Amino acid sequence: MRDYKLEISRVVRSKEKARASYDRLSRWYDLLSGRFERRYRDAGLRMLDARKGEVVLEIGFGTGNCILALANAVGAEGKVCGIDISPGMCSVAETKLRKAGLSDRVNLQCGDAARLPFESGLFDAILMSFTLELFDTPEIPVVLDECRRVLKSGGRICVVAMSRGGKQGPILRLYEWFHKKLPSYVDCRPIFAEKMMDDAGFHIRNVVSMNMWGLPVEIVLAQKQT
Ligand SMILES: C[S@@+](CC[C@H](N)C(=O)[O-])C[C@H]1O[C@@H](n2cnc3c(N)ncnc32)[C@H](O)[C@@H]1O
Repeated sequence: MRDYKLEISRVVRSKEKARASYDRLSRWYDLLSGRFERRYRDAGLRMLDARKGEVVLEIGFGTGNCILALANAVGAEGKVCGIDISPGMCSVAETKLRKAGLSDRVNLQCGDAARLPFESGLFDAILMSFTLELFDTPEIPVVLDECRRVLKSGGRICVVAMSRGGKQGPILRLYEWFHKKLPSYVDCRPIFAEKMMDDAGFHIRNVVSMNMWGLPVEIVLAQKQT
């Protein structure tokens, strides 16, 4: 049987280049793609359904739109942590939080999510929106293992990702061609999020398929086994 992971394009860009590229993008991100990706992020937030008093982590929080929504959802008695590799993104997100008066319930860290700087069993829920696709194929299980480690038993994880799972139309093939030719600019690539989360030992609870200009998007809600 063919290994589905071999069908995913590899990521050739280094972490340093990813950091530099998101730093450059950070001031324009909301204008360029933040608004268009909102539908999918919001669907992920709804599926994760963060509640009052929960401790929640977002990986690759970007300009902080979901961090803000999560901070409102968990309330003053909850806590939101975030990790992002780009100092530029961290600074944009911190400014938004300060303006919204929510900094006291949020802890943002700048770093690589392949090694999460959090103790085991800390979080009720984790959100990852358009970020798991940025890790190279062998590193995706490492990131998901880290997520499992820092989740409480029974904790939830929601991944919003471009999907390689469904039918491969011409737009998807064209997008993958651009990813191969211009890996520094077209950095995300479609992955098998549900399969990879299942392989990582999560219990899949719900999968919603959406479409972004002909590109399939998968929103997967899963749970750490109790
Ligand atoms: C495509 S953006 C998505 C931002 C946000 N989640 C959203 O949906 O608007 C990906 C984010 O992941 C961050 N990122 C990329 N590689 C990372 C890594 N190895 N560890 C942590 N964050 C990373 C980038 O800096 C960027 O902010």
